[in-house]
Amino acid sequence: MSGTKVSRQLFSEERSAEVVAASFEDTPDPRLKRVLTSLVHHLHAFVKEVEVTEEEWQEAITFLTRTGRTCDDVRQEFILLSDVLGVSMLVETINHRTGGTSTESTVLGPFHMVESPPRELGADIALDGKGQPCLVTGRVTGPDGEPVPGALVDVWQANEDGFYDVQQPGVQPENNLRGLFTAADDGRFWFRSVVPRYYPIPDDGPVGELLAATRRHPYRPAHLHFIVAAGGYAPVTTHLFVDDSPYLDSDAVFGVKESLVREFPLVDDPEQAAEAGLANPFRTVHFDVALKRAGGAGRTGGTTP
Ligand code: BEZ
Ligand code: FE
Repeated sequence: MSGTKVSRQLFSEERSAEVVAASFEDTPDPRLKRVLTSLVHHLHAFVKEVEVTEEEWQEAITFLTRTGRTCDDVRQEFILLSDVLGVSMLVETINHRTGGTSTESTVLGPFHMVESPPRELGADIALDGKGQPCLVTGRVTGPDGEPVPGALVDVWQANEDGFYDVQQPGVQPENNLRGLFTAADDGRFWFRSVVPRYYPIPDDGPVGELLAATRRHPYRPAHLHFIVAAGGYAPVTTHLFVDDSPYLDSDAVFGVKESLVREFPLVDDPEQAAEAGLANPFRTVHFDVALKRAGGAGRTGGTTP
């Protein structure tokens, strides 16, 4: 057969990414097209840089398959994988830029699986009375420092042994160390609790194997979780970290931001303890939360074109 030579876009090691990216040329959704094109370029560059062997690729596929099989209604091993690779925190941080003025966000985590029970300001969320008592106070404000009356302050935390209530059914009372508070007219909130302990993320699955293989520990430093929300403002999902906790410098999921670490000073004064409704001595912490207005900048200002 004679004839003119047709130049075909065939696959080669050199041109692999371009050839595959070209296959997305007709994708109608421009965002999907951009995401897939970029993904293919980065993925191919990674395979070339590392020169992945066939055995390694098979191992990776087996690992991801086992990660999927470890998921069920209450366990999400893929999110955990994203957490320990720092991707959850990166996505969170990119999508909730603060401009240095509002409270920084951090990961949601898997233990917000039940709705927090509404409670009165000042309530004690340590239903079993176990642990070192702690008075938590704070104020919700907007970007101009204005109080946000009626802001919803959703709180959940581990106990003094580092377990959430849902991890110890029958040991901890239901809804222990959880509460949904409504901020007062001046934006203030306060409640009684106990100082939480550091704890390990679930490490009995593929993600735990990855941590062990890389000599990483599974621990998170002690923290209280918060979601603060109010009409007209963007909600913030964040933590309050205990400043004398181990693992602040090596959180297994990279969730620590300096602006979220607070001292929990000890108060040893029976009068103040009686006023707070806590046993003496007790610890205190103050956490002000500044919200952004709804519809404000999210992903703007990033480094990628
Ligand atoms: C948590 O803080 O509850 C958490 C976050 C990420 C992974 C596991 C636990
Ligand atoms: Fe947690």
